[in-house]
Amino acid sequence: MIDEEPDYVIGCFGGGSNFAGLSFPFVREKLVGKRDGLRVIAAESTAAPKLTKGDFRYDFGDTGRLTPLIRMYTVGHDFVPPPIHAGGLRYHGAAPTVSHLLKHSLIEAEAYPQVRIFKAAKLFSQTEGIIPAPESAHAIASVIEHARHFIKNSGSHDIDGPVILFNLSGHGLLDLSGYQEFLSNKLVDFHVDLEQVKESLRKISSSN
Ligand SMILES: Cc1ncc(COP(=O)(O)O)c(C=O)c1O
Repeated sequence: MIDEEPDYVIGCFGGGSNFAGLSFPFVREKLVGKRDGLRVIAAESTAAPKLTKGDFRYDFGDTGRLTPLIRMYTVGHDFVPPPIHAGGLRYHGAAPTVSHLLKHSLIEAEAYPQVRIFKAAKLFSQTEGIIPAPESAHAIASVIEHARHFIKNSGSHDIDGPVILFNLSGHGLLDLSGYQEFLSNKLVDFHVDLEQVKESLRKISSSN
């Protein structure tokens, strides 16, 4: 509609709904060889890093173990992520369709900590006049990262740089307490490391 084609498609990642909704039509074009160079990126939280640190295996989709087993990237259905403001990104697993694409390297994943995403959200609010949800701010942090990378490597602020499409999945008008913490320098980052993920997965392996 706007006569542009993206070089990057970026969405934040909780379980996969908004990311898949935005990116799958473009992934289809990649699959049929129409867009080899296109980068499709899921931006998750460092507090629930299923795509970047989780295992690709069968796991329950819920902590109550009521769903069928799903083959997906997971940090374990018992894992309780730290209390980040982007509550929608605390899910332990990932949509099996998205997991499959990641397994086959058709998409990429990145993880961002909350101070960084609020910094990105602040810049976005000031430039666009829209306060993004902390979840959506993960996508914005990734957009800024890739735009800066282009500028640094090419030395160019050219408008003909890469076209980055991202999904603003929600507004942040109900998340002002997170913004308040960020603006008063009280926000802390949470990084879940590989050892914590392995421990969580060991526990569910022994209880399954
Ligand atoms: C604004 C917003 N964006 C993204 C998400 C993440 O969900 P999903 O990855 O399923 O789109 C949530 C979840 O609650 C949300 O509230």
